Amino acid sequence: MATVNINGETRTLDVPDDMPLLWALRQELGMVGTKFGCGIGACGACTVHIDGVATRSCTTPVGSLAGKKVSTIEELGKSPVGKALQNAWLDVDVMQCGYCQAGQLMSASALLAENPAPSEKDIERAMQGNICRCACYGRIKTAIQLAAKETEKADV
Ligand code: FES
Ligand code: FES
Repeated sequence: MATVNINGETRTLDVPDDMPLLWALRQELGMVGTKFGCGIGACGACTVHIDGVATRSCTTPVGSLAGKKVSTIEELGKSPVGKALQNAWLDVDVMQCGYCQAGQLMSASALLAENPAPSEKDIERAMQGNICRCACYGRIKTAIQLAAKETEKADV
């Protein structure tokens, strides 16, 4: 049995403590926005935030989450940074197959929440663990830069 705060709601899960969060999200809670790619922490498709930090849910046991706050792609658009990223993703037309994109957006939103004006190198460093088999890397970087500019303007 594990109790986890997900997107601001306390959820009680009748699952073993060592179940990966990704399994709990998708299979127990039906929250399928977070994607299963490699299952071994190598691709970034399953990225969520834990206490604001981009984290691989496939290698995070639910039993380790007591007292922590999990945020998933389902609540991305509720923050100004998340909304700006969603808009920029559409403006730049980032996606091809879309499979990696929830994880990309969660890594990008953790970056901008911590560093609102990232350099190109900062973006590359923050996004390097998110693999895109369609190789949309250039457009992802452009969209993050655009979202950062839009967020900065909104703050003025
Ligand atoms: S599914 Fe978690 S990193 Fe690939
Ligand atoms: S858009 Fe296809 S894997 Fe990234």
